[in-house]
Amino acid sequence: MIPTLAWTPEGVRFIDQTKLPLEESFVLATTYEQVAEVIVTMVVRGAPAIGVSAAYGIALGALRTTAPTTSLFAAEFDLICTRLASTRPTAVNLFWAIDRMKCLFDELLAESATLDKVKERILAEAHAMYEEDIANCRTLGAFGGELLPAEGGVLTHCNAGALATCGYGTALGVIRAAVEQGKHIQVFADETRPFLQGARLTAWELMADHIPTTVICDNMAASLMRAGRIQAVVVGADRIAANGDTANKIGTYNVAILAKEHGIPFYVAAPWSTIDLATETGDAIPIEERSPLEVTHHGGKQLTPNGVGICNPAFDVTPAKYVTAIITERGVLRAPYTESLKQMELVAT
Ligand code: MRU
Repeated sequence: MIPTLAWTPEGVRFIDQTKLPLEESFVLATTYEQVAEVIVTMVVRGAPAIGVSAAYGIALGALRTTAPTTSLFAAEFDLICTRLASTRPTAVNLFWAIDRMKCLFDELLAESATLDKVKERILAEAHAMYEEDIANCRTLGAFGGELLPAEGGVLTHCNAGALATCGYGTALGVIRAAVEQGKHIQVFADETRPFLQGARLTAWELMADHIPTTVICDNMAASLMRAGRIQAVVVGADRIAANGDTANKIGTYNVAILAKEHGIPFYVAAPWSTIDLATETGDAIPIEERSPLEVTHHGGKQLTPNGVGICNPAFDVTPAKYVTAIITERGVLRAPYTESLKQMELVAT
């Protein structure tokens, strides 16, 4: 299994995604501050992986505290949560994981749990989130695999794979499941400028699984669609609003429009922790603006003239009207999403 992140007796071990595919090296975070840093610098990235990383960061914060009692730890617990919440604004899984830990901590405070108990329960909750994430990816993967053609080209954007989750992946989970179901899938991976998650990460992990993969530059998708080489698009998500509008890696919206123009289904695969029913539409989703250096430089080499204006939004929002279906571990949802998402939430709770 691809070792995206793992709990060890010393701390959380992350495969360094900034170095892949040329170097397989690891970063050990032994404090919550280091986990926050690892998220900011994108050593770990991808919505579900960020959420579980934050959960382990909180566990590290609890385990390392010098506070003598649970009530004296409470203020530090808030600080830890605030720091981790400040790392990346778009993927709602981060806030979902932190809120889940806050609810647990409130329960433990209410029952006057000892600090040892708090440490044990917080770590157990992080482990549970890790295991649930893999199980959810497998379940949604199996649902989504059924939607892909028996044979054909499937385009994906960014990396919504094992590296973006605790294992198996969301969009790539759908592709893995389709292959396990005996389908013959040729993956086209958008390179995904500027951070190159497609060229570096999707290509690396699909090759490790011997799934036929071709990397294309982001501006090649239209031409391949017109040539009949792409039968479906499947992408992940960082946040899905209550009306189905979907934030995902910058460039996803372009692909969705192209898919619609060419009559190709455009699927979004995500665990329920990515769905944000409190955010009505995509317009209210905060979009992270990252450093201009990601655009001006590559591999330490400057690409653009000094002083040129640079824009680097890390995500865009695909309006729900372009989304053929949202694939979750609870099932496959279809438009109108305001109704189907609300209905699915009611059924599950
Ligand atoms: O900036 P990143 O690499 O964290 O962005 C990742 C994506 O946009 C993924 O498609 C999304 O998080 C889904 S991951 C299962």
